Amino acid sequence: MSTCFPPEFTWGVAAAAPQIEGAAFLDGKGESNWDRFARIPGKITGGANLDVACDHYHRFTEDFALMRRLGVKNYRLSIAWPRVLPDGEGPPNERGLAFYDRLIDSILAAGIQPWITLFHWDLPQALEDQGGWRNRLTADAFGRYAELIVIRFRDRVKHWITLNEMRCFTMLAYGDTLRPPGLVESPQVVNQTYHHALLAHGHGVRAVREHGGADAQVGLSDDATIPVPIMETPEHIAAAAAAFADLNYRSLDPIFRGQYTSIYHRIAGPDAAHVEPDDFELISQPTDFLGLNIYTGVYVRATADGSPEVLPFPAGYPTAEAHWLKLLPQALYWGPRLAQKVYGVSEIYITENGAGYDDEPTADGEILDLHRRQYLRQCLGELHRAIEDAVPVKGYFCWSFMDNFEWLDGYTKRFGLCFTDYATQQRIPKLSATWYAEVMRRNTLL
Ligand code: GCO
Repeated sequence: MSTCFPPEFTWGVAAAAPQIEGAAFLDGKGESNWDRFARIPGKITGGANLDVACDHYHRFTEDFALMRRLGVKNYRLSIAWPRVLPDGEGPPNERGLAFYDRLIDSILAAGIQPWITLFHWDLPQALEDQGGWRNRLTADAFGRYAELIVIRFRDRVKHWITLNEMRCFTMLAYGDTLRPPGLVESPQVVNQTYHHALLAHGHGVRAVREHGGADAQVGLSDDATIPVPIMETPEHIAAAAAAFADLNYRSLDPIFRGQYTSIYHRIAGPDAAHVEPDDFELISQPTDFLGLNIYTGVYVRATADGSPEVLPFPAGYPTAEAHWLKLLPQALYWGPRLAQKVYGVSEIYITENGAGYDDEPTADGEILDLHRRQYLRQCLGELHRAIEDAVPVKGYFCWSFMDNFEWLDGYTKRFGLCFTDYATQQRIPKLSATWYAEVMRRNTLL
């Protein structure tokens, strides 16, 4: 069987500003919610913060030279909102914008296409102080920020991603303590934060449509939960399809169906978000693609009446060292396939996939991350199977180019293709990077 990918398939690597840039308080950058959160004792493993991270702010030229050596042609990065608008609104910080001018020029000079995520979780603290995502004005402020960025960089950037993983900066942030501000609010407030994130997505799409130019493309990066049928028989596949809608009703129904459907109202009841007229018109504007961040999935089976049942993972089920990451490569098949089948999505990019391990160099200075190479290979095999079955998968971005600030895990649970030595800021391509470089170069699974 040929394991070639389609000739125009997009291969890339991904990263995000707060996880790599550092320079957290330099050149006029405003404080982010993560800068603040990381300073709360006990929140982040090892007491780590984002102040220096990979020092990409000062080292991007070498980083893009390394990407180029590895044959990277597409790079998904994010812009730090507080770097360009220190208070979230008001006068832009010209030094912040100038940094992204230099950064984007350097990416292009390395022969790489930038794919820009407008928001990868680092909210200006000034907006958090005014309620953050609880406040509808944050979505409006995001719209103005998105316009600023699109207008500034539209001559060089054609691929835009509005938001990264809405669930993480709403439900896990205002309904749980795992993300800033880490407050447990009422279900109504949590639903409202999610609604505001959807509005921000809509504003992002609008900004790209109005200002990005006719050839600009825009979509969302969603962390959809991916049901994997316990066996590929019609009844279990049908159960997985039903589960896909049940599990992702919060993000995909509003965006692709222009409404909160009955499942939302059944679950939210009186705590449903307050919706203003025209909200869904903004939220459900057509996008060019759906980005899926897929690391794992859940197993689903059909019960006697055909309805889906999500199965719990047994103790001892294999995981990466990032323990939340249950190894389940078939998610890369079923995620795209069900997005197409259930929501009619016509262009899909895997905007993240990877695995977190605490790699260490050997005595010879090599990083023999055979676990990562193995998982990536399995995932890409499943993605290839989806393409063979006519699922419209257009590209794949590996998370991440280099080890970086992994949120609550600090600088542990390394996801990089390249090892970051945080003491010296040296980058060392791991075995997986050498492997992935060859896969990209030959456009085939090796
Ligand atoms: C996410 C984020 C990334 C993470 C990666 C590994 O998906 O959580 O987009 O920033 O670092 O997923 O956990």
